[in-house]
Amino acid sequence: MIKAAMMAPFFFALSAQAHVMPLEHFQTKPILADLKDLRALNMPILAKDEFAEVGYTIVTPEMQYRIQERAHKVGKCGGFEDLSSEQHLAEQSFVGMLENLAALKQKDDLYERAPFRMMSVVKDAGIEAATSEVSESNLQNYVTWLSNFPNRNNRAPQPNLHVDEMKARLEAMLSSGSIPYEVSLIDHTSTKQKTIRVRLVGSERPSEIVVLGGHLDSINNSWGGGNTAPGADDNASGSANLIEALRIMSTKAQPKRTVEFFWYAGEESGLLGSAEIAKQYKEQKKDVIAVLQLDMTLFPGSGELVIASMTDFTSAWLRDYLKEINPIYLNARIIDDKCGYGCSDHASWYRQGYPTMMPTESTMRAMNSNIHTSRDVIGPQSNFKHSAVYSKLALVFAMDLANSSARQPY
Ligand code: BES
Ligand code: ZN
Repeated sequence: MIKAAMMAPFFFALSAQAHVMPLEHFQTKPILADLKDLRALNMPILAKDEFAEVGYTIVTPEMQYRIQERAHKVGKCGGFEDLSSEQHLAEQSFVGMLENLAALKQKDDLYERAPFRMMSVVKDAGIEAATSEVSESNLQNYVTWLSNFPNRNNRAPQPNLHVDEMKARLEAMLSSGSIPYEVSLIDHTSTKQKTIRVRLVGSERPSEIVVLGGHLDSINNSWGGGNTAPGADDNASGSANLIEALRIMSTKAQPKRTVEFFWYAGEESGLLGSAEIAKQYKEQKKDVIAVLQLDMTLFPGSGELVIASMTDFTSAWLRDYLKEINPIYLNARIIDDKCGYGCSDHASWYRQGYPTMMPTESTMRAMNSNIHTSRDVIGPQSNFKHSAVYSKLALVFAMDLANSSARQPY
């Protein structure tokens, strides 16, 4: 049940209206979408979070089409998030998720209203040296290798072909490093595809976990576009950034906190892998300090070295942290933007109440229009100098946060 104190930001009208008629008769599906879009289209809002500006509703195919049409007009990608394939997001679980989200939102709100912010990051020569080791040609090699698989989709006939090969490569890479590590494949109930996790165990506070992740799967959504889904930008690029950050970090000193790198399964079919993992971590009461999501870093749509920092499903504390480390280590330009819905795996963690950050290649308006097609390959638009900044960011995030005592305030 929802406690009275938690009710405030939400309006609940779930049960009655939603279940008057058998839903299957109308081919309806539960979705999350931008509150503004739902209101503009005059659609019923069954539950909402005013802070996150997200609404929960159940749509018919016709309503779904209207939301998509509006999303495309205002330059968004999908326009909504389909919850129907996610058994774990059954109504009861959805309510629990909103409670977690409310708790974190409350902290964020207090943080944003605080009269001053504590600045805590001090330049560290070791971290600076590590960022200078990021290699654009390594990134290009990783993206080339991943995007040469015809398809990394979770419903492909062999959904783990690239996963198994990547695991072997990571193990070979880590064997020459200096830190204790564990590489695991995580099974899921919602997809046959597996998530890869690399854990660098903390030396002093191993139960405190810093998470870095990106989705390794790809999709081709275009009409008659064939089956190839190279996904160079979406998301071989973010996946490559994480490999490069891990390669460098694994040759340095063991961090005080545990650092976990994830390459998630089935993101393109509804955040499948990350939703299961974040939910399990919450159930097991794991102390996840911060979550970084890297999804699309190769197309500099808003300009070279311009980072879009997504403000929805992310934490004010970590967005500020990005702005704090930027002049010290990155020298990029940061623009705030919004997906308007849970557009990537950070949303899975955020919904479980964990602090997140989602820096991406450009604003939504200027995003790569070739994603989800067979044209998402390395081409003249690909910019590995731009992409390299996200590996540097990942290195700072992992090396700084895993050696500090910083936490989400309040
Ligand atoms: N990489 C995209 C999300 C994205 C798009 C981030 C543009 C930043 C800019 C991601 O892989 C994706 O396609 N997400 C889906 C939603 C998901 C819940 C299936 C989308 O945006 O339609
Ligand atoms: Zn995608």
